[in-house]
Amino acid sequence: MTSPLPPGTAPPAPWALLAELTHACPLHCPYCSNPLELTRRSRELSAEEWDDVFRQAADLGVVHTHLSGGEPLLRRDLTAVVAAAESAGIYTQLVTSGVGLSTAKMSALASAGLRSVQLSVQHADPVASDRIAGHRSFEAKGRAAALVRDAGLPLGVNVVLHRDNLDAVDDIVDLGVAWGAERIELANVQFHGWALRNRTALLPTRDQLSRAREAVERRRERLAGTVELVWVVPDYFDGVPKPCMGGWGAVSLTVAPDGAVLPCPASRDMLGPDVPNVRDRSLEWIWNSSPAFDRYRGTEWMSGPCGGCPRREIDFGGCRCQAHALTGDAARTDPACALSPDHALVRTLSRTPRADAPSADASRYVYRGPDRHHTEATRGVRR
Ligand code: SF4
Ligand code: FES
Repeated sequence: MTSPLPPGTAPPAPWALLAELTHACPLHCPYCSNPLELTRRSRELSAEEWDDVFRQAADLGVVHTHLSGGEPLLRRDLTAVVAAAESAGIYTQLVTSGVGLSTAKMSALASAGLRSVQLSVQHADPVASDRIAGHRSFEAKGRAAALVRDAGLPLGVNVVLHRDNLDAVDDIVDLGVAWGAERIELANVQFHGWALRNRTALLPTRDQLSRAREAVERRRERLAGTVELVWVVPDYFDGVPKPCMGGWGAVSLTVAPDGAVLPCPASRDMLGPDVPNVRDRSLEWIWNSSPAFDRYRGTEWMSGPCGGCPRREIDFGGCRCQAHALTGDAARTDPACALSPDHALVRTLSRTPRADAPSADASRYVYRGPDRHHTEATRGVRR
């Protein structure tokens, strides 16, 4: 296969690694973007294998890793994994639901070199948060926030926004501030992996989005210089595609729990048998030479409207996973773009009568879970 980069052009070095330590998770979020087929615990990379991954990643140029999942706190050897990244010289951020974080665990992680924590929350209202998560977890999150602060680590709070919580953005920001967050990420839901199954229940209305956007602007002004507010734009509503992943194989890579290496965490199902694995090949070969990373790198692979578009170096043709999910062909222009011949697909979705209806009925979720699915939120909350 010829490289899609111009001949003689070396791929840029990656700087970020998303380390998915496990797919296991106590929560059952309907918007989960992990693949439909989850990795079994017995197939997970060991702490020794992660040590090797971090050393190879550092040699490639990686300086930052998100330790994520699933729920990374379910790994008994998490402290050893953190220590391995630290000894490779990589900055570590733990991305967690907070469930399972004890005083002893926090102290061990901080001693091993953990640098910061990003805590997920589903809503500012405890009942609504537990209902969306499908698990009684709100209290544990509040406790986890306090532990992170007491350990002297920077705290970020992240919230996936959708029909069921967009009207609570002000309260969510208040909650993040009360918990002592330095950064609050408000990320509008993306419809990858499990989330696609819940698209109808999660899709917001245009009015909700514009109210939330205004609230964020207002709060940004008030919090300027104290708390950073990040608004990750929604997919279907603006006619403008996101520069997804900062470009394919351009700045970051994902290592999945079983060692699969992905240009984007949501791309596993789309890449199928082309997915390389650190158990078989070096990270250097995977990044620089594997067909999976080469496939949509640069701009030479583009056809259709992207091929001659002045924005192709800005948004890289949008999101490959979304193009694949909506059209069956990842090489097409992202249908989120107003110039895409497939744009009608997202226009229709964002204008369905349901999406313009009042947002009272957001309770028909199919919950993520390895063993069982629930169709009613009120029955989904587990202890
Ligand atoms: Fe971006 Fe392609 Fe749309 Fe141009 S045509 S704005 S490059 S997605
Ligand atoms: Fe995979 Fe956008 S989510 S490229």
